[in-house]
Amino acid sequence: MISPRAIAAVSRVRLRDAACAASLRRLVGNTTTNPGLIPGARIRAIHGNSAQQAQQIEQSPQLTSPQLSQTDSQVVVHWGDGRSSTFDNQFLYDHCRCPSCFHPKTKQRLKTLGPVNPDVRINSIEVKEGAVHITWGTDPAHHSSFPLNFLQQASYDPPLFNRDQLLDRVPLKLWGSSIAENPPTVTYDSVMPDKAGADAEKGVMKWLEKVHDYGFCFVTGVPTTATATEELIRRMSFIRETHYGGFWAFTADMSKGDLAYSNEGLPAHTDTPYFTDPAGLQIFHCLSHPCPPGTGGETLLVDAFYVADQVAKRDPAAYETLSRLAVPFHASGNDGTMLRPPVSQPILRHDHMGRLQQARWNNEDRCVLGEGWSPAEIREWYAAARLFGDICTSKEAEYWVKLTPGTVVVIDNWRVMHGRAAFTGQRTMSGAYVGADDWRSRRRALLKQFSSADSSEWSFGW
Ligand SMILES: [Fe+2]
Ligand SMILES: [Zn+2]
Repeated sequence: MISPRAIAAVSRVRLRDAACAASLRRLVGNTTTNPGLIPGARIRAIHGNSAQQAQQIEQSPQLTSPQLSQTDSQVVVHWGDGRSSTFDNQFLYDHCRCPSCFHPKTKQRLKTLGPVNPDVRINSIEVKEGAVHITWGTDPAHHSSFPLNFLQQASYDPPLFNRDQLLDRVPLKLWGSSIAENPPTVTYDSVMPDKAGADAEKGVMKWLEKVHDYGFCFVTGVPTTATATEELIRRMSFIRETHYGGFWAFTADMSKGDLAYSNEGLPAHTDTPYFTDPAGLQIFHCLSHPCPPGTGGETLLVDAFYVADQVAKRDPAAYETLSRLAVPFHASGNDGTMLRPPVSQPILRHDHMGRLQQARWNNEDRCVLGEGWSPAEIREWYAAARLFGDICTSKEAEYWVKLTPGTVVVIDNWRVMHGRAAFTGQRTMSGAYVGADDWRSRRRALLKQFSSADSSEWSFGW
């Protein structure tokens, strides 16, 4: 699953020093800034690899003729440039992708873990035609062939390859208020088949790339009806149903127990922090707000990853606090709804490699703090949250825009916060949520569809 952009990066890839396992996990940057290093902490990165990091990995010139050595339970591939990768026999046997171990159509593992045990032995092994071929001492004997580039990419002892490229994790573009000069935008005509024809899917890919890179994207020229808005959203992905419904259109009538249904101003926030899996995309379309006589209602967007980056630079300990202390959220304002995730998460949530993946910032929906916290941590959290909030509301971070009917905004709700100014007059909004996994899946599938990269069985399941 390598995107066209990743291909360029992969072509510059070099096997890295075996001693670099730790530095693979080091702070990774983004196109605009590097987040601050947090000494001693595992949390150290804004999501996304930098061009700089990609350049540190290059194809080994001797990849085609490595040497092998073995113990009873391990295979060592010596790449020919002083570096080597050690693989446990169990790992290799488990990752066989012959048609009896891996379904070529469904891309699913067919072998159970039963035969994958510490006693699995190798009868013979050789390097030939760009692959390591193994005959296993199983009964009956089993043959596996591992392409050398797979072994390079899958090397874990030590890690030699940045898997970001395989997962289409391209650098994020953090932004502040100056995004107003050139906000990410696509046209309605470029994504709808009856307008763009065969290129419409490519249009959707470009749309999702902007959502991925910037955390939001406008769509201009959208017909100002609920039907057209819903159709546009469904071009992108499924709609996620919640206690607010699926696709919604409403005026400020407090029909639901949420401030969104009022005409009050709302500070920058992420939606649905009270779900275990908060909404992935928040999509809005102001269908009508005649001004005059109406006033206000400007939309506020703030890049929470930019804010996090600023916090890390100014006060690494505050960043660590916001990344560690779990904050409970709830939604209790609707009859019959008592939402609160069983596992509370910190404001800044990182993946297993310490990359920032999600911000939950919603002062209105916060529950009672302090379960499992020390008195000192209460004070630390308020100080850290105040710093986050101060940067959030700074001139440098806030992007205000008056959205008029015909312009839809798609927001990555795991990253970009939204808010609005108070308003008067009759205002009709429509929109929907889309699941985080769903839009990411659609983006990656489109990247694969329009890429000429490897689509063998070895390119799946990273
Ligand atoms: Fe909201
Ligand atoms: Zn097999």
